[in-house]
Amino acid sequence: MKIGIVSAGGDCPGINAAIRGVGKTAIVEYGMEVIGISNGFDGLIDMNTQALPESKLSGILTLGGTILGTSRMKPFKHQEGDTVDDKPQVIKENYHNLGLDALVCIGGNGTQRTANLLAREGLNVVGLPKTIDNDVWGTDVTFGFDSAVHIATDAIDRLHTTANSHKRVMVIEVMGHNAGWIALHSGVAGGGDIILLPEIKFDMKVVANAVMSRAEKGKPYSIVVVGEGIKTPKKKGAAEYIGKQILERTGLETRETILGYTQRGGTPTAGDRILATRLGAYAAELIHSKQFGNMVCLTDNKISSIPLEEVGGKTKLVEKDNPLVEEARNMGVCFGDKCK
Ligand code: F6P
Repeated sequence: MKIGIVSAGGDCPGINAAIRGVGKTAIVEYGMEVIGISNGFDGLIDMNTQALPESKLSGILTLGGTILGTSRMKPFKHQEGDTVDDKPQVIKENYHNLGLDALVCIGGNGTQRTANLLAREGLNVVGLPKTIDNDVWGTDVTFGFDSAVHIATDAIDRLHTTANSHKRVMVIEVMGHNAGWIALHSGVAGGGDIILLPEIKFDMKVVANAVMSRAEKGKPYSIVVVGEGIKTPKKKGAAEYIGKQILERTGLETRETILGYTQRGGTPTAGDRILATRLGAYAAELIHSKQFGNMVCLTDNKISSIPLEEVGGKTKLVEKDNPLVEEARNMGVCFGDKCK
């Protein structure tokens, strides 16, 4: 069998570990031939591929990013700069021209949606979820998330020093798109006092009161962790809006930090390496047993799979009754809707 691996969408720590997991299992256990598709689905349009013998899979486990390159090209959407009209048709033809028996699609929600549409077009596809945002529906956790939470937590730890020394309110904006997973987990791990998630509607009065009541209790500083996807008027940047509002409403010295792409870069944590490796190995197993049209996933700490039809287009958000939210609330963390 000959299989292709493509990584698409934003990069994240652990993609190379997943490529290695798929490739080594496919080659060593099943004697398959493996090729990598370069630069996301663009590589299937312009036939930009590379052979991935076992030797090329050595030494990549710890590397951040993706050795294959990636892009945000969406095969089923018309985008500016498209060089061909019927992208799905060209991808289908090139899949056959390359002699592929299956394609592993490593990516987030958008990529899993594409994977499902390619499966409907008759290609043998297996989805493999990744993203720092942890918002892929159908899997308990995505690799990349743990690494991003570690980076964000480390940043919050460091901000505590300046917050304490200068008696300031520190607002830190973390990634996550419309999901608050990174904000929630790094906020709790970093001891944030106020955590704002896109999923929980906040009231600026409640946020300002929480900061003031800490000051009145003699706590000289506050750490406010905000998810980039919180709703702000006129789509203002999350940290910028919250920081200005706190300053105006409390008069306390406030500073903002936007963590940005540092959360997506660098070497994956041990946990992400293990998850990516296990998902990769299972993707190769699914191909060997011809179980196409599925996405590999982690459910109750077991690696399994779920039909792509069930995943496509859905986003996994932080639930209103998430236990971590409740536990944090009980310790006095304010989520901007009400405070203890
Ligand atoms: O999906 C991962 C993510 O990093 C989001 O958290 C963020 O909103 C987005 O990608 C940024 O995307 P881009 O790479 O297009 O700037």
